[in-house]
Formats: sequence, structure tokens, C-alpha cells
Amino acid sequence: MATLAYSDIPGYPCRRGKVRDVYDLGDRLVLVATDRLSAFDWVLPTPIPGKGQILTALTLFWLDYLQIPNHLLSTDLAEMGPAFAARAADLEGRTCLVRKAAVVPLECVVRGYLAGSGWKEYQCDGTVCGIALPPGLRQSARLPEPIFTPATKEESGHDRNISFAEMTDRIGSELAVELRRRSLDVYRRAADYAHARGLILADTKFEWGLMPDGTILLIDEVLTPDSSRYWPADEYREGISPPSFDKQFVRDWLESTTWDKNSPPPELPAEIVERTAAKYREAYERLTR
Ligand SMILES: Nc1ncnc2c1ncn2[C@@H]1O[C@H](COP(=O)(O)OP(=O)(O)OP(=O)(O)O)[C@@H](O)[C@H]1O
Ligand SMILES: [Mg+2]
Repeated sequence: MATLAYSDIPGYPCRRGKVRDVYDLGDRLVLVATDRLSAFDWVLPTPIPGKGQILTALTLFWLDYLQIPNHLLSTDLAEMGPAFAARAADLEGRTCLVRKAAVVPLECVVRGYLAGSGWKEYQCDGTVCGIALPPGLRQSARLPEPIFTPATKEESGHDRNISFAEMTDRIGSELAVELRRRSLDVYRRAADYAHARGLILADTKFEWGLMPDGTILLIDEVLTPDSSRYWPADEYREGISPPSFDKQFVRDWLESTTWDKNSPPPELPAEIVERTAAKYREAYERLTR
């Protein structure tokens, strides 16, 4: 299994995200999940072997489990064209052909627990994305019920949490209500499933897209460790920040170096790479065994 930091398919325009390389085939896209890892908003120079395949396999697993309208067309490289099929050694297992949708320009975040930017906002004013929560909640507390907390997709810098009212202003009330309903529904189903396998799905981010006929599709990656915060249930407690399932070794190691987070990050040591790769494999095993 080849490690892949950057794909390069001749003849197709490519847009590189932090992790995925996206090729435009007109009405369809090819999404290549590379082995790139981002931390502290930087793409690290060292890829994590197997990560792209795990992210892809988990997205495929969840799409199959959820059975809701989504963008997936095929994982058969031959259907993407000869240029893709010729790179099978690099692309197999990490590549999806999807319907190109008009991306709803918002991150549809659902939170079942108080972590990350939600915890920060709650400490300041007792709300998350303007939703009032009971007083006295501790870090990582389970919320009385899951909440929908949309955010903008910023080209550079951090995504910005917005209120549901602002979401309604941006995309209209009918679509906003529908995306909230769908996002909460998928979160609840996935969190129940994960919990039965010893994982807490603290929060997750969905992207939704529209087809020309108005159909709403679930797009992008689905419930992967990159788009979600999974905690091992046996290490969960209120009042602490439970270890992130996948990136904790990397974050801890980077924090232990002299790196200032404002300049290109250093190469990761082999041990950190291997431990991180093992965590991605473990997430996959736990969720799909
Ligand atoms: N079916 C689809 N139609 C149109 N765009 C899609 C579809 N599925 C995914 N995308 C887009 O493809 C891109 C995937 O790339 P990736 O997630 O690596 O980059 P990013 O979202 O720009 O960066 P990051 O996630 O690292 O912040 C996203 O911009 C996503 O919105
Ligand atoms: Mg993305």
C-alpha cells in the first residue's frame, strides 16, 4: 500500500484541500483522500501511511449504514477514466467518484458534548452558537440533547460559529430547517452506533449539497476522525478534555517542540507517525468490526 502525500493526475484540473485532492470531471468530481494530516491549521510535512484509505473506508461504511441520499457514485477507478485507472497503485482504496453538487457554504456541525469552540463560547456567555445551555456545565459534559451549531467555511483561518438565525439569513429558512433536521438525525443515529462500540461521538461536521432539481445530498467526508471528535468511552470524564482519538500524539508532540505554530511545521518522528497511523486503524476497527 503506497503512502501518498500528493496525487497528480495529468489532464484534469485539481484543487487541493488540506487533506483531499479534488479533480473536476464536469458534472462529477473525483475525491482523492491523501495521507496528509493537518494540525493547528497546518498541513504537516509528514504523511500518515494508510490514513487516506481509512478516511475513505469510514466514509463508505457510514454512507452504507445511513442509507440517505448522498453524492457517492463509484469507487471503481475505471469509471473515472484511464488516467485514474493507470494510477491504481496510488489511488486504490482512497478515491471516490461523486456527483458534483452546489455546496451549501456552511459547516453543519452537531454537538452532543461540550468541547472545542463550543466549550470556549459556553465559558464566556453560557451559550453555543447563541443556543442557551443550562448553567454549571463542565468541560466535555454531555448536553441535555444534541444541538445544531453551524459555522461559516472560511477560506483562510478558523471557521466562524454562527447562530441559526444567521444561517437562515444566508440560505433561507426552508433549507436551514431541513439541514438542521437531517444533520441532527444523522448525528443521533451515528452516536448511538458508535457508543455501542465504545466510542463517544462528541461532535461532527456535515457538508450538504444541492442538485439542479433541488435534491439535497450528503456530500464530502462522513463521520471520519477528521470531520468528527471521537473519544474512547473508557477514557471519558467530565472536567477534562479527553484525548482526541487520532491526533493527540501529534498535537502533544508538536507542543513539546519549539515550533511556534506560525511557520511551517517540522517533520514528525517515525514513532509518532506509527502511533498515529495505528489510531486511525483502531478507529476503523472499532467502528466496523
Ligand atoms: N459532492 C460534492 N460536490 C462538490 N464539492 C464537494 C463534494 N464533496 C466534497 N466537496 C468539496 O470538496 C472539498 C474536499 O476537500 P478537503 O476537505 O480536503 O478541503 P477543504 O474542505 O477545503 O479543507 P479542510 O477540510 O482541510 O478545511 C471540500 O471543499 C468540499 O466542500
Ligand atoms: Mg473539508
